[in-house]
Amino acid sequence: MALLALGACTGPAEPPPTSTSTEPVASEPRPSASPTVSLRTVAPKDLLIGSSVVGGGHLSGTDHPQPLESDAAYRQLLATQFATLTPENALKWASVEPARDTYDFAAGDAAVAFAEQHGEQVRGHNLMWHQSNPAWLTEGGFTPDQLRQILHDHISTVVGHYRGRIAAWDVANEIFDDYGRLQAGDPFTDALGVGIVADAFRWAHEADPAAVLYLNDYNVESSAAKRQAYLDLARQLLAQGVPLGGMGIQGHLSLQYPPFPPDFRSTLQAFADLGLDVAITELDVRMALTGGEATGDQLATQADWYRQAVAGCLAVARCVSVTMWGLPDTYSWVPATFTGQGAATPFIDDSTAKPAFDALVAALQAGRT
Ligand code: G3I
Repeated sequence: MALLALGACTGPAEPPPTSTSTEPVASEPRPSASPTVSLRTVAPKDLLIGSSVVGGGHLSGTDHPQPLESDAAYRQLLATQFATLTPENALKWASVEPARDTYDFAAGDAAVAFAEQHGEQVRGHNLMWHQSNPAWLTEGGFTPDQLRQILHDHISTVVGHYRGRIAAWDVANEIFDDYGRLQAGDPFTDALGVGIVADAFRWAHEADPAAVLYLNDYNVESSAAKRQAYLDLARQLLAQGVPLGGMGIQGHLSLQYPPFPPDFRSTLQAFADLGLDVAITELDVRMALTGGEATGDQLATQADWYRQAVAGCLAVARCVSVTMWGLPDTYSWVPATFTGQGAATPFIDDSTAKPAFDALVAALQAGRT
């Protein structure tokens, strides 16, 4: 299976802001016949194609790659291919409030500024989650009332800091387990129950009324119990007048569990039928690697799964964005989490696309159905 090398754009280090033209992105010819195209220029105007963004700010000194600062080709990929970016880690609690009432927006500011420089929207991620919480929070021995105040202050400060600059927020991330039960380990729902989620949305809305506020989780398309729990919660929140605006279906898929989730599209539609926006928020398709390499068959199947995911979104009018997670493969979270797995994104590295990229282009060009 031929791998396609995305040509480096000529001219300035980073391309000018978003082009509205459908002209191919200016680039040197790449080894394959097909010209370099930009996903955002072939996407329908009412569908934002996006990526997570890794790095920025002071984090560059860490032992983890920070490509937003250190990798010009990475910046160019993000600047030319996408219409929305999601800071992968910069806005999580451990990064943004490392000590109580002490905020560090450097990495988040770098990511948001980069997106704005290139005419891209930003999805904020996330305001409450059972992971990536700092020790001062998880080991602070706070009372429920204190935790409520801490969450209020965090949401008001963080969402307020980016007021008018972040179009959507993953307010509550992964609050149910795959059996539809409240996920253990979230310091706030552990202490205050699921009712605190409604307050989190209200506080986020007060801090930025323009932002669309999402629930967000993985396996919603494959676990009936989890899907039902979210449908029930969404209905309750809406009935209470809580400013819930969208449901994020993360879309972390694995070729080890075929077939492509048969309920993927109907899951998007079920939340859209509640009057919500829906978004695919963290799409990647991982696989078990033999000798560190993906086979041609795996790459072909992966391409088809990316196509099906985008086609599912295009078939649901309220599906507003498809965001991919951890690209390119070199920066993906998968190898560090799933030993022996990887190759989850449509790009091998900053300038080498895989068959999944061409499948994305074809699916986006096919448009809404
Ligand atoms: O930056 C610090 C570094 O200073 C420190 O030395 C090092 C010590 O381990 O940690 C570094 O932070 C790491 C961070 O990524 C930034 O690289 C964390 O250890 C590491 O756990 C964190 O992993 C992220 C993970 O969420 C947990 O926050 C992954 O990159 C990220 O892709 C993953 O994304 C999640 C979504 O937020 C929610 N949905 C599931 C998805 C996959 O788990």
